[in-house]
Amino acid sequence: MFETLTKAPGDKILALMGEYAADPRPTKIDLGVGVYKDEQGATPIMTSVKKAEQKILSAGKTKTYLGIAGNKGYGAAVLDLVLADSVDRSRVRIAQAPGGTGSLWVLMQLVNRARPGATVWVSDPTWPNHNPIAENSGLQVKTYPYFDTETRGVKFAAMLAALDALGKEDVVLLHGCCHNPTGANLTPDQWDKVAASLARTGALPFIDLAYLGFGDGIEADAYGMRKILSSVPEALVAFSGSKNFGLYRERVGAAILVARDAAQADIAQSQLLNIIRGAYSQPPDHGAEIIRTILEDAELRAEWETELNAMRARMIRLREKLSEAIRQRSNSKDFDFIAAHRGMFSLLGLENSVVEHLKANNGVYMIGDSRINVAGIPEDRVGELADAMLAAIK
Ligand code: LMR
Repeated sequence: MFETLTKAPGDKILALMGEYAADPRPTKIDLGVGVYKDEQGATPIMTSVKKAEQKILSAGKTKTYLGIAGNKGYGAAVLDLVLADSVDRSRVRIAQAPGGTGSLWVLMQLVNRARPGATVWVSDPTWPNHNPIAENSGLQVKTYPYFDTETRGVKFAAMLAALDALGKEDVVLLHGCCHNPTGANLTPDQWDKVAASLARTGALPFIDLAYLGFGDGIEADAYGMRKILSSVPEALVAFSGSKNFGLYRERVGAAILVARDAAQADIAQSQLLNIIRGAYSQPPDHGAEIIRTILEDAELRAEWETELNAMRARMIRLREKLSEAIRQRSNSKDFDFIAAHRGMFSLLGLENSVVEHLKANNGVYMIGDSRINVAGIPEDRVGELADAMLAAIK
């Protein structure tokens, strides 16, 4: 049977992870996969997570099935965290799903049940896994303008014009905050305009919320999404707990749907649960129980927010240090955008040959499109990294 198959393309982000791991140079620098790193280059378990796990371990009484929608306390806590009071909960349903990717997957399947073969509009560029998830669900993918390669900001007028031209059969995938891969984000005023456009055209907003709290803080990062949810009759949100809770390998996320009214929400939710049952039956509990335990306990929640704030502050500091080091050495403001970007990533706009040169000569690993994970910048070697980048560009 397998002779009928040809080799499938690899994923460029995960392939780079393997290449980095195999590189024996002790001086190598990992700016690749989107995983948070501390001063030591480690990705430790957050203290709030450790404490929650200890509580779970001693309080746990059963490993019986959770049910298709997953951990109910987790679902309620995530809705409070993500939505606040932006939308009447009678129109909202949630199902725990395996990571942000699993949440995107089940929601794309739901879109395809409602509108078979619909077009999902994604930003140009977007996270490389968006296209396969949509296409493998039977949907078409098209792009709307987003990143301005001159200013390294958002091409907002062109983006809005493209969104204004959509109709109610279209689906618009938006990064709720911390755009991946570019690091360029909408201002609150631009979010207001996007929300008004969606309300006018009836196109369905589908928000990928993988980095809540990594940009400017939980509330600021949720602004655009909540504005949209409060402006439109229907929407989808794929939430991930991988980054903000550091639970990457636990695969914890949530698929959220907002419907016109409670009756339609029940019908849509029944389809979502039917999709999940026919795919993996029901989600695993551990990551969800950790997040529930943290969000429901005032002390643990405060501790988690402090840790999240520290991660965010460190990423902003590393952005400032790298752009400052490049400015001092090159006497130009060409890389000042790194400090203006938010979230885990910046798209540097380097030629692929420069990216390859940095990898081969300096052991500096970034994604082929020149996306860097700013959390991977070693704080005590920022000058060395700036030197390597400037030498490679010359
Ligand atoms: C990334 O963009 O690096 C992360 O979201 C990890 C992944 O799965 O691609």
